[in-house]
Amino acid sequence: MAAEAPLRFGFDQPGGRRTSTVGEPEPEVEPDSLGEGDEFDLHGGDAGERVEETLKALEDELVGLAPVKTRVREIGALLRVDRARQQFGLASSRPTLHMSFTGGPGTGKTTVALRMAEMLHALGYIRSPKVHTVTRDDLVGQFIGHTAPKTKEAVARAAGGILFIDEAYYLFRPENERDYGQEVIEILLTEMENERTSLVVIFAGYEDRMETFFSANPGLSSRVAHHISFDDYTHDELVRIADLMVVKENFRFDEEGRTAFSRYLELRMRQPRFSNARSVRNAIERCRLRQAKRLVELEHPLTRDDLITLTAEDVRGSSLFADSPTTTNEPEEG
Ligand SMILES: Nc1ncnc2c1ncn2[C@@H]1O[C@H](COP(=O)(O)OP(=O)(O)OP(=O)(O)O)[C@@H](O)[C@H]1O
Ligand SMILES: [Mg+2]
Repeated sequence: MAAEAPLRFGFDQPGGRRTSTVGEPEPEVEPDSLGEGDEFDLHGGDAGERVEETLKALEDELVGLAPVKTRVREIGALLRVDRARQQFGLASSRPTLHMSFTGGPGTGKTTVALRMAEMLHALGYIRSPKVHTVTRDDLVGQFIGHTAPKTKEAVARAAGGILFIDEAYYLFRPENERDYGQEVIEILLTEMENERTSLVVIFAGYEDRMETFFSANPGLSSRVAHHISFDDYTHDELVRIADLMVVKENFRFDEEGRTAFSRYLELRMRQPRFSNARSVRNAIERCRLRQAKRLVELEHPLTRDDLITLTAEDVRGSSLFADSPTTTNEPEEG
């Protein structure tokens, strides 16, 4: 007689005692529910598909960032295998999920954090795919006794999701003997071990300062399992990011417009406060303003083509193309 087909399970059976919490739907399949002879399909089921979708979205929406994408895939693989092992009752501790995202401004850290939240949620490691972003001011109080409640409130808001601490190094001020930031760090250390809140903390900021921050806080550093670093974009990548952004907004550069924008980026990259993809987005917005102004001044009715096209004129209106470009103190030049 032919052997019976093995039982097959995928990730649509959430399971996972380690992540189910009050208010959560009961897992459909308990951990330990699979045994010898059963099989588990890592790619199947609702969760498996959602992870694949998230990874694909990351691939499609972000230009470059190959090392970041690889790391996210690796974390996805680790967690999928961990979940499968749980179903077979193979005991191991909950993987440490706290991370650090280091890199310059506008390099995609927040965007990747949102995708990470989706992935962790699909796999049941967090209860909702939300990212609660805070900076020092949201955590540190002005007066004695104010810091702990503030930090705990932020943790409570982020609980079940991701607490994203932007410019985390500002929590640590060694020059200030009794800085309240130290209190925040101590509370975070406790909360990061607390499985009940299923909180994932991501520390974000510039690479060099984060290194100093972690070396001064070895306790934190040892609780961060994944260090992901985001490189500044090359000129070529910035041009591709611009193409992606304009298409998404139902615009396009005509040929001269695209050449002008590429030149604009060359100039902008050398300016102060250059913020990678964020500067690209801001520059496109200013091109749209100039396009609108140009179109309003036209005497004839507009075609669809008029409405979607950004021309060299729209780009070259920037002050960077002026005869003697001024370095302004504005967050972004005009
Ligand atoms: N590789 C990329 N491809 C396409 N768009 C990108 C890319 N990286 C970032 N962006 C876009 O640039 C903008 C800024 O990105 P994001 O907010 O994720 O950067 P960040 O690193 O968090 O910046 P900051 O450090 O200033 O907070 C967003 O609109 C995002 O969609
Ligand atoms: Mg950000």
